[in-house]
Parts: sequence; C-alpha cells; structure tokens
Amino acid sequence: MPIVPTKEILDRAFAERYGVAAINVINDLTMEAVLAAADELRAPIIIQTSVKHVKMTGVDAMYALWQTYASRVSVPAALHLDHCPERELISACLARGWNSVLFDASKLSVEENKRQCIEVVAEARRYGAHVEGEIEGFKRTEEMTGDEAEHVQTLDTVVDFISATGVDVFAPAIGNAHGMYKTTPHLDSQRVTDIVQATGIPVALHGGTGMTPEQFSDLISRGCAKVNISTALKIAFMKSGYDFMTEHPGDYDPPKIFTAQRAAVMEMARYHIRLFGSEGKAWT
Ligand code: 13P
Repeated sequence: MPIVPTKEILDRAFAERYGVAAINVINDLTMEAVLAAADELRAPIIIQTSVKHVKMTGVDAMYALWQTYASRVSVPAALHLDHCPERELISACLARGWNSVLFDASKLSVEENKRQCIEVVAEARRYGAHVEGEIEGFKRTEEMTGDEAEHVQTLDTVVDFISATGVDVFAPAIGNAHGMYKTTPHLDSQRVTDIVQATGIPVALHGGTGMTPEQFSDLISRGCAKVNISTALKIAFMKSGYDFMTEHPGDYDPPKIFTAQRAAVMEMARYHIRLFGSEGKAWT
C-alpha cells in the first residue's frame, strides 16, 4: 500500500524544490483518474476531498474508495481534507484514516484559530496525521478586487501562528483565489520566501488553476511544495462530458461518457504534475 504520510510527501518535495499536485477530486471516477495519472508518471500525489464531497459521499464510503484506488497504484499518495472549519468532520476524517486536514478557521480571530488549531494538531498526531494551517482565507476569483495581496497578516503573526500550533504546512494569502482568474493574478511571491525563511516549513499554494507556468516554477522554487488544483479538474470533467454529448447526440451509454471524462481528467493531472516537476519523483 503506497499510502504515505502527507508530511513525508511534502518534506521531500520541499527539500528538492518540486511541487506535489494536490488535486481536489469530486467522485470515484476522478479519484481513480488522478491516481492513475500519478502512477503513470511515477509522481507522488495528494488527493484532496472537499467538505461538501465528503458529506455527500459519507466518510466511510469515501475512505473505502480511497483505500481501493490507492491500493492499485505504487506511487506515494496521501488523502487530505481541504478547507474544513468543522471540528466534528475533522475528527471523523482523522479517526477514519485521512492523512491530513486543512483546519480552516480563517473566519475566526487569529487567537481563536490558533487555540483550536493547537487542539487539531494534537488530535492529528494521535493518528500519525498532519495539519495545514490558514489564517487569512481565500476569496473566489469572482470576488477579487485586485488588492488581495495587501490584506494579509504580518509576518510576525504568521510566524507566531506556525510555531505555536506546530502545523506542518501553511497556506498564506498571496493574491491568489479559488476559481478561474479573469486575468493573470498579481502574486506576492516574496511573501512565500519570507515565510519559508522564517519558519522552515513548506507552503501550500491555493488557487492553482489558471496560474502561469512561470508563476508555478517561481513559487515552487521558493518553497510551495503543495500545489492545489480544483477548478481545472471540474472543467476537464464537465467539459469532456459536454463535448461527448455534443459530438454523439442521442448516445446515452454512460460508460462511453465516463471513458471520455477519465481521459480528460488524466490529461489535466499529467499536465500539472509535469509542470510542478514531480514526474519521476516517486520513491515507493
Ligand atoms: P482552484 O480551484 O483555483 O484550482 O484552487 C484549488 C484550491 O486551492 C483548493 O483548496
């Protein structure tokens, strides 16, 4: 079984300065397709699950899917719970076997976030699991006003949060957002360098969809070892289904559409894995 602790996957990437694709999947088909792409390219991979998706599928069913599909590949893979403000769901996922969670208390004060995050880290450690921390929150791209990179906590606040909580990876706001950017975002890459130099832990890059190859390679070289991709998977999945039905009107045989969707999701995953430099980096 190649299920590997998230910290091991990220620390290696951080040391060698490549990025691990952390891809949000939306169902069994996309989970299998992303793992298959990583296996084909011999790349470590992080499978991300959203709160919505976990609730829709159920913790046990989702974990059963994960175990089944992860056991078919031979590359290091970890299961991560993305942006979760709910302590109860965090506890359920950790107890079930998730390798890591992003405790998203960015709507709370930094002090309260820190207090609760210390508890989440202690809980995760009991299962050998890891924690991503966040104190600033991310907008959707539709809500961007262009000055996102300016509304952030100070470096001292970030350093204090990381050292007090002991989080394994930190997700700073650097002008990034979730969704499809209307134009290339203006990113504060120096902030990544400052956080990495001050804390020595890897950074998680959110809002990956739509960043340029140059932005990815610059940010990864500065220490963004975890690179989150979600919207690109949704687009690949939905567009391939739409295109199939447009090209084959009246063909309602689901496996054919699923084949097209699997191929599109695999291609999207391959593209990002190659771009992030993790092809061939598997050690299992
Ligand atoms: P995108 O949807 O912009 O790719 O962002 C993914 C993400 O950061 C998930 O947490």
